[in-house]
Amino acid sequence: VRAGLRERAPLLLALAGPGGGAPPPPAWAEALEALAGRLDDTYPFGEPGYAGQMLQPPHPVAWAAYALTMLLNPNNHALDGGPATSRLEAEAVAAVTAALGLPAGLAHLTSSGTVANMEALWVARRVHPGAAVVSGADAHYTHARICEVVGARHEALPSAPDGRLDLDALAGRLAAGGVGTVVATLGTTGLGALDDLPAIAGLCAAHGARLHVDAAYGGFFALIADGREPGVAPAPFRALARADSVVVDPHKHGLQPYGCGCVWFADAEVAAHYVHDSPYTYFTDAGPHPGQVTLECSRAGAAAAALWATLRALPPDREGLGAHLAAARAAALRLTEALAALQVPVVVPPALDIVCPLAPAGRASEVSARTAAAVTRLAAEGIHVATLRLDAARLQALHPGVVADVPEAVVLRMCLMKEAHLAAAPALAEAVAEALGDGSRAGGYRRRASK
Ligand SMILES: Cc1ncc(COP(=O)(O)O)c(C=O)c1O
Repeated sequence: VRAGLRERAPLLLALAGPGGGAPPPPAWAEALEALAGRLDDTYPFGEPGYAGQMLQPPHPVAWAAYALTMLLNPNNHALDGGPATSRLEAEAVAAVTAALGLPAGLAHLTSSGTVANMEALWVARRVHPGAAVVSGADAHYTHARICEVVGARHEALPSAPDGRLDLDALAGRLAAGGVGTVVATLGTTGLGALDDLPAIAGLCAAHGARLHVDAAYGGFFALIADGREPGVAPAPFRALARADSVVVDPHKHGLQPYGCGCVWFADAEVAAHYVHDSPYTYFTDAGPHPGQVTLECSRAGAAAAALWATLRALPPDREGLGAHLAAARAAALRLTEALAALQVPVVVPPALDIVCPLAPAGRASEVSARTAAAVTRLAAEGIHVATLRLDAARLQALHPGVVADVPEAVVLRMCLMKEAHLAAAPALAEAVAEALGDGSRAGGYRRRASK
């Protein structure tokens, strides 16, 4: 991958300009060469040994479509800033939301999941001014600060040990009154848990609260939530259509370059909250302009073009984009099974493709120490994983053999987002088991890989 950057840099520069067959000025070539060198300082995101953060290189079609469109650099704000890409955005967003089972409403792309969630909570605050926004302890950390930004009161509710929003706590809080909006999560960032959306939707309806679903990570798994294998639990995804707003990130499991979130509102009338005037922006009469129903001003038309082209090559169904999700899901199940065969439990059975292997130890402090050693040992073998800090009492509730001798325990966290993780899962399991052990057997992955 790294060598590929150096080889491709001059080709890209030749494609990008300056046109007319003229060679790029030497300073341009030197700049790209220097950049390729600087990008050497990275992790191998595209390789199966990388199972750390929620990231992967974009699909080749997305990348090429983005680069192609960037030769024009359209802006999806005013229609005349990006006429073609504004239409592509509308088509791509309609395809994504339909694939999630959402009826026609109001939807658009954003530059990230955070901005998409911010738009949803901004509308929520306007619909229920003064009321609280509640989210679970395992919801993404940005919800609390987004509430600060949009001027809403935020309250955190406890999670059940398995990472899902605690339903008893939610029911009690709703009954006490003053809650305007509940944030549920499909695919928590830590454990990849799926909140019990049918139950949460029922509670919200009973108490007149809005339901916002943060499906930034998990949303695209709707493509394989059909009762077939490999698949994910259908019920939470079927309940998505009961939400008032939903966020999904094409730049996570939609295989897009960064800069592509998406927010959907059930009620198209919320467009009224976005109404504003701009004396210098909307001067062509062909409206409505995308910027009239977004909080952001400039947005990359290339992001819309990349998503549109990807969905054309990989339609948002089980056989198209769904095949990528199915491979990720199957990889998580295979890794979990292989770990179990090696006597390594996982914190919770994975609901999606995030797996958190638990070091075999009797005390939370020892779990953390073994996890830290394993991260280093795995990295030495070219395997890059993340970690997750967990309340130790919660861990003990899930695994009574692990005594909560300290407040928090650190466990390994692996995001198996790539199709290549499926074939690699057994070897990854062996390496993780060796690394989490006493160290005497570490190093096998590299030995096996070099054979
Ligand atoms: C559940 C969830 N919500 C929101 C976000 C934030 O999205 P972004 O990083 O696109 O701003 C993330 C990021 O990991 C996430 O996992």
